[in-house]
Amino acid sequence: MRENSGFSLKIASSFEDYMKVVAVRSIVYLAGQACPWSEEFDGNDHAATQILGLLDGEPVATARIRWFAGFAKLERLALRPEARGSGHGDDLLRFMIAISQRKGFSCLYLHAQAGLVHFYRAHGFVPHGAPFTFSGYHYVEMKAVLPPRPDELRLDDGPHVLNRPEGDWNRPGVLEISAGRPPAPRQPDKPRA
Ligand SMILES: CC(C)(COP(=O)(O)OP(=O)(O)OC[C@H]1O[C@@H](n2cnc3c(N)ncnc32)[C@H](O)[C@@H]1OP(=O)(O)O)[C@@H](O)C(=O)NCCC(=O)NCCS
Repeated sequence: MRENSGFSLKIASSFEDYMKVVAVRSIVYLAGQACPWSEEFDGNDHAATQILGLLDGEPVATARIRWFAGFAKLERLALRPEARGSGHGDDLLRFMIAISQRKGFSCLYLHAQAGLVHFYRAHGFVPHGAPFTFSGYHYVEMKAVLPPRPDELRLDDGPHVLNRPEGDWNRPGVLEISAGRPPAPRQPDKPRA
């Protein structure tokens, strides 16, 4: 992300964040691409990591990532029209790639609208499979195989690192801070009737 651009990205972590995600997708896809609600909100949102982008505090960007055993699937990239053309789309895609790599995924997969193939190609994606159609748009399957990141999360990073809030892996989380608290006194068992 460019310094001082006013643009920031995070993993959605509250109900309010989710409302902002839905608001951006409603503007971009329901209003902007005439996508029916049932196709846009397709039942996969609770199985996904949701990304939220703010420009000067206003929700303008979103996307989601779904996790499969051998690959991550990047979906629903969306920028409100007034926020386009300033490189925030590139920032959004770079953020998704970084999160996926940090979680240990080196194979990334997505469905590119036919006019956006060059946008994804610039980030290392290449066409994969035959073009296809859904929701009134032509799509191209694309995938990227990326080098592993040295800070990829691993099983031996320890319980506290692996307990940290998603996407916020570089600083202590609330559960490891709680480890400094003395254990709660054990409640005596109730006598059996
Ligand atoms: C896709 C999207 C997130 C990209 O955001 P953006 O702000 O336009 O992206 P950037 O400013 O970082 O531009 C990235 C490049 O993509 C190009 N691009 C963006 N949208 C495009 C479109 N609809 N058709 C062709 N090229 C497009 C830009 O011209 C730019 O190309 P360049 O690097 O060669 O100059 C945004 O256009 C968007 O939300 N579109 C509507 C939703 C959508 O279709 N999502 C993708 C579904 S696969």
